[in-house]
Amino acid sequence: VLITGANRGLGLEFTRQLLARGDRVFATARDPEHALDLANLATGHSDRLTIIKLDVSDPQSIEDSWNEVHRHTDALDILINNAGISPNTPGSGGSEKLSRLGTLDMSALLNILRINSVAPIIIAQGYLDLLRNGRSPKVINITSVLGSFTQRTPAHGYGYSASKAALNMYMRIFASDVLQYGIVSVVVHPGWARTRIGGANAPLSPEESVGGLLKAIEGLTRDDAGRFLDWKGEGVTW
Ligand SMILES: NC(=O)c1ccc[n+]([C@@H]2O[C@H](COP(=O)([O-])OP(=O)(O)OC[C@H]3O[C@@H](n4cnc5c(N)ncnc54)[C@H](OP(=O)(O)O)[C@@H]3O)[C@@H](O)[C@H]2O)c1
Repeated sequence: VLITGANRGLGLEFTRQLLARGDRVFATARDPEHALDLANLATGHSDRLTIIKLDVSDPQSIEDSWNEVHRHTDALDILINNAGISPNTPGSGGSEKLSRLGTLDMSALLNILRINSVAPIIIAQGYLDLLRNGRSPKVINITSVLGSFTQRTPAHGYGYSASKAALNMYMRIFASDVLQYGIVSVVVHPGWARTRIGGANAPLSPEESVGGLLKAIEGLTRDDAGRFLDWKGEGVTW
């Protein structure tokens, strides 16, 4: 399993739970030297956890990460496109530049699209060869209900919601493109969970969110390809 943004939040929890159930994990982070929680996990699981540098916004970094993963394996069973930013992320431009009409900022809006929408499809494209060699391969894209047109929850405003809506469309097309190789790709809403993006008031713990998601991922079949699911495995309207 390869996970992006594995140094904190849901990505770190995915890594923890996947290791606990016996999986072989490539946990990526843009700054592994400061990924102390990941490093702590590695001490107990050095045989099944490899930490890899990956800044998802940088095509060269994506290629370098592929080279590094390929030194260890020629097959991936699961890719989890998890890394993302929101107005809560330091350096994102905050709600002023991403959410508020009157102060919306071109470069902040393009940056959130680059990280949340474009990076996942470029990463999925880059890792396609390894996924094609995987066992019942799956691509899991962490989206948000805030990217749904039919759920009226504009809490994060323009930049975040539009980036997840764009991710959904990229991955809807990708899912139909790769089903011929037996790859099942879905977009999943993790619920509102207590992370840097979710904030302290979120009702779900990362443990609950990821526990539910892993159960849902395990149950995926070809018929689920291209679907929008939540952390309980239930369908979300587009
Ligand atoms: N928590 C929720 O309630 C919620 C709800 C719906 C969807 N989501 C989605 O869940 C996913 C995980 O978010 P989270 O809640 O766990 O928030 P988080 O704690 O802020 O984690 C975000 C992760 O993405 C990484 N990241 C950001 N930009 C990156 C880049 N350019 N290259 C590589 N990694 C990068 C961060 O790394 P750094 O530490 O280096 O910044 C961090 O590891 C996101 O896609 C988010 O949109 C979360």
